[in-house]
Amino acid sequence: MAAQCYPSMNAVLIYPGTFDPPTCGHIDLVRRAVPLFGGMILAVSVRSTKPLLFDIDERVEMLHAATRSISGVMVKPFDGLLVDFARAMGAHALLRGIRAVSDMEYEFQMAMMNRMLSPDLQTVFMMPGEDYAYVSSSLIKDVACHGGDISTLVPPEVCERLKRKFSKQVIP
Ligand code: COA
Repeated sequence: MAAQCYPSMNAVLIYPGTFDPPTCGHIDLVRRAVPLFGGMILAVSVRSTKPLLFDIDERVEMLHAATRSISGVMVKPFDGLLVDFARAMGAHALLRGIRAVSDMEYEFQMAMMNRMLSPDLQTVFMMPGEDYAYVSSSLIKDVACHGGDISTLVPPEVCERLKRKFSKQVIP
């Protein structure tokens, strides 16, 4: 993808997620959004409703490594409500990825709830590349845990960490 830079909208953009772990789909979305917005804050949620494989420090480190070459990207952990973090950061918009129509229902609910909590905060949706339309963090963990090759779907640092994690675990 061409790294063309458009005039900045001067909007502070937050891309929130659990990123457990970050995938090439997440990074693809970062690369698409940064030229439009001039930068972004990757907000890594400390907690999740899903069981977590990586702790917050590991997830922040993986995102740092995967976005090192992209200028304008900051990685920050957050705990508590996303809208409170967004307010503290002076953010104008949240970015979320839509991989398939099935993502819409959940994303629509979250966007509406966030709008109810913080009416001036907009949610922007973008689509990752088609190559990553089927990728999710849970699927990556499942395939990696059973020894499958996920090296084309996650950044190299993530691949290494997944290998290390699962080499220590005995699958019952
Ligand atoms: N490429 C690949 N996968 C993608 C993707 C992309 N571009 N975009 C999303 N996904 C996948 C993720 O891998 C993840 O997969 P998984 O379900 O298998 O783990 C799934 O889609 C969504 O995960 P993610 O993008 O990490 O978001 P999330 O839904 O886990 O994060 C928060 C949700 C953290 C943003 C939300 O829970 C939150 O805001 N929490 C803070 C508390 C709060 O404010 N709650 C009220 C919210 S209305």
